[in-house]
Amino acid sequence: MKFLKSVKKFYFHYPFPVTVVGAKHGDKINFMSAAWHAQFSFDPPLYGVLISPKRFTHDLIKKSSAFSLNFLDSSKFRIVHLMGRISGRDVDKVGELNLKVFIGKELEVPILSESYAAYECELFDEKKYGDHTLFVGKIVGIHYDEELFNEKYQPDITKIIPTLYLGSNVYPMFELREIVELEG
Ligand SMILES: Cc1cc2nc3c(=O)[nH]c(=O)nc-3n(C[C@H](O)[C@H](O)[C@H](O)COP(=O)(O)O)c2cc1C
Repeated sequence: MKFLKSVKKFYFHYPFPVTVVGAKHGDKINFMSAAWHAQFSFDPPLYGVLISPKRFTHDLIKKSSAFSLNFLDSSKFRIVHLMGRISGRDVDKVGELNLKVFIGKELEVPILSESYAAYECELFDEKKYGDHTLFVGKIVGIHYDEELFNEKYQPDITKIIPTLYLGSNVYPMFELREIVELEG
């Protein structure tokens, strides 16, 4: 195997499923795509997302202490891509892309109606790591399309495949082959 001592950009561990982070402060509503995110805890339900301080969304989360995480089907990859290539500082992305948005039930966070699921998160903790800030949110409400999930709240992969990202503007498209359930 080839060995690299150090690299600046690396995508060996991709693809990542993408989430679209929503935030609102006053009447300013914005969304951005994020590939770097993960569940941190079941109880309490904690979910973290890494956002560069350069992003407008970073400012909005700092001001509002809340954010939403929106999950979109891979068929919507163009929306996801544009959300991640233009800044809400310059453009009203919701208006530009003609998207429907509603406000959360528990928090003043914007939710994309196109999502198959979305989390309302109140800011629980934040810490800077290198060139990104880790925002950890406590999930205080979940919106989901019940036709697309099974009784364990797992996505029905025959109906939805999350948007995946390979880095550098590349989105793999997968065809579902099989689902297996293992004993465990
Ligand atoms: C698929 C995809 C994934 C991205 N993932 C992240 C990420 O995890 N963290 C981050 O800070 N920026 C990420 N970006 C870049 C931001 O989404 C992008 O800079 C966006 O325009 C910021 O918008 P804003 O300035 O309106 O907040 C990603 C972009 C794309 C296209």
